[in-house]
Amino acid sequence: MEKHHEKAKRGLWSSRFGFIMASAGSAVGLGNIWKFPYITGMHGGGAFVLFFIFCIVVVGIPIMIAEMVIGRHTHKDPVGAFRKLRGGPWVMVGWLGVTAGFVILSYYCVVAGWAVDYLWLALKGTFNSQHTKEVPELFGTLLASDLSQLFWQAVFMGATVWIVLGGVSNGLERANKLMMPVLFLILIALALHGLVSPGGTKALSFLFTPDWQKLDAASMLEAMGHAFFSLSLGMGAMLTYGSYADEGTDIPNVAITVSVMDTCVALLSGIAIFPIVFTYGMAPAAGPGLVFKTLPIIFSQMPGGTFIAILFFLLLVFAALSSSISLLEVVVAYYCDEKKWQRRTATLVMGFLIFLLGVPSALSNHLLANVHFIGERNFLDSIDLLATNYILPLGGVFIAIFTGWVMTTRLARGEIVKGNVKFHYYPVWHFLIKYVCPILVAIVFISRSGLF
Ligand code: PHE
Repeated sequence: MEKHHEKAKRGLWSSRFGFIMASAGSAVGLGNIWKFPYITGMHGGGAFVLFFIFCIVVVGIPIMIAEMVIGRHTHKDPVGAFRKLRGGPWVMVGWLGVTAGFVILSYYCVVAGWAVDYLWLALKGTFNSQHTKEVPELFGTLLASDLSQLFWQAVFMGATVWIVLGGVSNGLERANKLMMPVLFLILIALALHGLVSPGGTKALSFLFTPDWQKLDAASMLEAMGHAFFSLSLGMGAMLTYGSYADEGTDIPNVAITVSVMDTCVALLSGIAIFPIVFTYGMAPAAGPGLVFKTLPIIFSQMPGGTFIAILFFLLLVFAALSSSISLLEVVVAYYCDEKKWQRRTATLVMGFLIFLLGVPSALSNHLLANVHFIGERNFLDSIDLLATNYILPLGGVFIAIFTGWVMTTRLARGEIVKGNVKFHYYPVWHFLIKYVCPILVAIVFISRSGLF
């Protein structure tokens, strides 16, 4: 009784549907609609997409189950969870996660700010037939303005802080239950539109016909890193969301549902965007501006386009928000659980600090455009690369090793089946977590390092 009260005070999802929607909300975001199409374009299509799906199934789903199991078992933030289960150096996995949340959110707000700017443009009626020619140029105009980017970044961070202040079931859950289903519908409509357009067939063959020659070690690392990023894995976001779940929630079922939804949204945005690329003879490898340069062309030509554009960018902003709140939540949960801060203080202070760290990212396309960090990359692209391709898979591997080798079978299995849940595939999951995940991630890391 006492214990239940403790958990309720910390916050719990009000229903299984709410838990699924919040986790799907965390997973589905800019990663699916902005990043997946542009990196697919840069890495040559088909083979990259198939390897990405392979990583989702073999590494992503098992690790998502593991994170949720650890979270629900401990009902703690990532640091507290590892401390409670084992302590020692394992606590560092929790810290790595909280740090990753901090870093990823800093540039996530900048990209989400671009989406807010486009929402504003759509509201002003910019995407109409008189402007079709100028539409692809709007993105360059935005990147050339440091002030606009800072402004929209601040607006977006403000909205994230505001929702997180609302708490678990009121803030996080309520917001997600509404946004996710509508987003799905509009993406399906845009994908159908893409399929019947002249570039439709070419787009499908680009996306799904593999040319394995194009899959080098760098592409493999990018696809694997993106599987972690897209499913919000490797940094304790799903662990934290799992910690607000009650016994009797079917974790494997939730993890599979969320992963399938996430993958569908990524593929749907690819199917919506690439037909436009091919119809208008644009370059698939156009980079981070791809979604902002392609879809608005269609909006500016279709009847009722202004309305569709408003709806689309509104939903893109919502999708980004449901992910950004999960990033901030990881950091806030740590300060509340471990440092006993008030939820309000933690949210406001951390929101502000993360905003500050985001400033160089916001300036990285103009004022700081000539400052290179990793290779030719600017600040934003460099920390994205570092966080997504290295920190998340590393965190994920540690979580897999912890669940497969340190947490006893009795504990892991016992947690999954709590409340009469059946998990027939337990041996398959355990095998994947124990051997396949660590080995596969190691192979990709090592081949990228050029050792073989
Ligand atoms: N999964 C989110 C997206 O695809 C990003 C994210 C990464 C959210 C890690 C939480 C944790 O946009």
